[in-house]
Amino acid sequence: MLVYSKIKSLKDNISSLKKGTHIGFVPTMGALHKGHLSLIKRAVKENDIVVVSIFVNPTQFDKKEDLVNYPKTIDTDLSLLKSVHCDIVFTPTANEIYDNNISSQDFDFDGLEFQMEGKFREGHFNGVGTIVKRLFEIVTPHNAYFGEKDFQQLQIIRKMVHKNKMPVKIIGCEIYRENDGLAMSSRNTRLSEKHRKAAPFIYKTLTQVKSKFNTESISEIKNWVIEEFKKQPLLTLEYFEIADEETLKPATKVDAKYKYRAFIAVFAGKIRLIDNISL
Ligand code: PAJ
Repeated sequence: MLVYSKIKSLKDNISSLKKGTHIGFVPTMGALHKGHLSLIKRAVKENDIVVVSIFVNPTQFDKKEDLVNYPKTIDTDLSLLKSVHCDIVFTPTANEIYDNNISSQDFDFDGLEFQMEGKFREGHFNGVGTIVKRLFEIVTPHNAYFGEKDFQQLQIIRKMVHKNKMPVKIIGCEIYRENDGLAMSSRNTRLSEKHRKAAPFIYKTLTQVKSKFNTESISEIKNWVIEEFKKQPLLTLEYFEIADEETLKPATKVDAKYKYRAFIAVFAGKIRLIDNISL
C-alpha cells in the first residue's frame, strides 16, 4: 500500500498506470470504522486499484469546535486500509488541497442543498462539493463510492457529477450498522456510555416508521415520531422528515410513482447523529 500526501506524487503514480486500469475511489475523513471499510471492500471487488483519501475537510464544518474535535486515528486507519487491500492512500494537508485559500466554491444543486442538513449546517454542502470535485480532479476515478448513511450528500454528489458531466460513476452503498441498529459513525466514539445506550432508539424508530408508512398518513407518522422523542430524556430530535429520494423535498402525500425515504437528526447530549431508511 502506498501513502501519498502530495498531489504531484499521487498524480504521477496514477498517470503511470496501464491504460484501461479501473480506478475506484473512496473519499473519507478518516477515523475509519466498519462502515467505511464496507465501501472500500466493495471498491476493491469492483476495480483494478483502489484509492482512499483521508482528509478532514475544513470547508464543510459549520462549527469550528467540530473540526477541532474531529477524531484523528491515522495509524489505525492505515493498518485497517492495508487489511482490506487498499492500494493507495492520499493524506494531503489543507494547504496542499486549498493552496492557502481555504474557502468553498458556490454550487447550485437544484435545491437539494436547502433541505434537511442544508437547513441546519450552513455552507456544509458547498464545502463537500468543493472537496469532492477537487479530489475527483486529482484522483480521476472511474467509480466513486459514497454511503447512504449520508444520503443527502450522496444525492448532491450525483447532482454535481451530472450537471458538470464529470466522467465518474457514483455508487451508493448501504448503511452499515452496529448489532443494535445504530448506524456506524466516527461520532459514535464520542458518545457517553448512557447516550450510547440510548442511541439505538433512533433506528428502532425508523423501522417502526417504515411499517407505519403503508397504513398511516405522513402527518400522523411525523407527530408520532415527535411524541416518541419527547419521552426520551437523553435524545433530542432536531428534525424528522419523509422526503422524495430524488428531490429530497418533504412529502405531504404518497404517490406510487416516487420513492420515499425517512430522514432523522438527533442530539444525544452534544453529539449530533443522523440516520435514514428507505420506505
Ligand atoms: P466520512 O464521514 O468520513 O464518510 C466517508 C464515507 O463513508 C461517506 O460516503 C459516508 O457516507 C460513508 N459512511 C460513513 N458511515 C457509514 C456507514 N455506517 N455505512 C455506510 N457508509 C458510511 O462523508 C464524508 O466523510 C465527507 O463528507 C467526504 C465525502 C469525505 C468529503 O469530505
